[in-house]
Amino acid sequence: MVAFRTVGVAGFGLMGSGIVEVCARAGYDVVVREVSEPLLARGVDRLTRSFGRAVERGKLSNADADTARRRVRGTVRLEDLAGCDLIVEAIVELMDEKKALYHELDRLCPPATVFASNTSSLSITEMASVTKRADRFLGMHFFNPVPVMKPVEMVRGFLTSDETLAAGRAFCETLGKTVVVCKDSPGFIVNLLLVPYLLDAVRALEMGVANREDIDTAVRLGLNHPMGPLTLLDFVGIDTTYYIAEAMYQEFKDPRYAAPPLMRKMVLAGHHGRKTGHGFYAYPEGAR
Ligand code: CAA
Ligand code: NAD
Repeated sequence: MVAFRTVGVAGFGLMGSGIVEVCARAGYDVVVREVSEPLLARGVDRLTRSFGRAVERGKLSNADADTARRRVRGTVRLEDLAGCDLIVEAIVELMDEKKALYHELDRLCPPATVFASNTSSLSITEMASVTKRADRFLGMHFFNPVPVMKPVEMVRGFLTSDETLAAGRAFCETLGKTVVVCKDSPGFIVNLLLVPYLLDAVRALEMGVANREDIDTAVRLGLNHPMGPLTLLDFVGIDTTYYIAEAMYQEFKDPRYAAPPLMRKMVLAGHHGRKTGHGFYAYPEGAR
């Protein structure tokens, strides 16, 4: 079975930084690519704060944090991903952007490199179709925050080989994750169930059923969830959830997946949740 040594990560946002962290802590050399130097610096900052938090909480020694940090190399050059055995893509949830990236990566990387998308909802088979390695292409759906959340949904595209799936599973297990396998269906397992619930919470707010605090408090205490749905939407990203909902709606044409107008307005206004400082709630710089 293929064993990966060097991992490339495309996208150093919320999920990319978590994926970089768990890979570096598990001993992999990591190359992470962003589209600009300021965004790369933002990813480095998020990673440094997360390592700092793990040290503060006694989960990681200073020495181990330093070793892990030294395994990570940031770049804005796509070519720098070409030497990786596995590339995990965690860029924006838009099919055209992902296809453009995979088209370029396929040209740059040797045939043996395996591509894994962290997409929340989009078709693995469609992304793989712009490459010449559909058998070495799979979905590897991590959850947010990556260092804390155990599962990875491993998605088998129409042409994903058994060997690729086995290598992906073995890799995720070295990260301490629990793998579940599912077919290439919009939203896979968790988002198929989660997204209508999150959208319904926004609809409840739009309908004036209750204010944001009471919606969140009712669900947090009434269902024993760690976060209420509006807090969770801010945590995941309003933009990301909007793109996920749109993709699922396009596929199913089921109104349960149609994003409420308030979400569209929030996306257009740049109120993307915790990462931009504004969502259903406000987040001062230090709380992000
Ligand atoms: N990175 C690393 N570790 C983190 C972290 C982060 N960003 N945030 C919290 N933690 C760790 C803390 O270090 C702490 O660890 P210890 O208990 O071992 O010290 C633990 O998580 C709990 O953290 P806190 O006490 O600070 O805060 P909390 O108890 O409120 O938990 C939370 C924070 C884990 C995020 C919790 O609120 C939670 O589980 N929320 C729901 C998350 C969720 O539902 N995620 C899935 C989103 S959907 C998705 O990911 C799929 C998709 O495609 C959209
Ligand atoms: P994000 O907006 O925090 O980060 C995305 C990053 O990708 C941005 O920094 C952007 O500059 C960068 N990017 C865009 N095009 C790029 C390219 N061609 N090369 C390199 N970087 C590029 O988004 P996120 O929340 O990290 O989501 C990333 C992916 O992970 C999406 O597919 C999303 O659906 C999925 N996902 C998100 C969550 C979540 O809770 N936010 C959970 C699981 C999966």
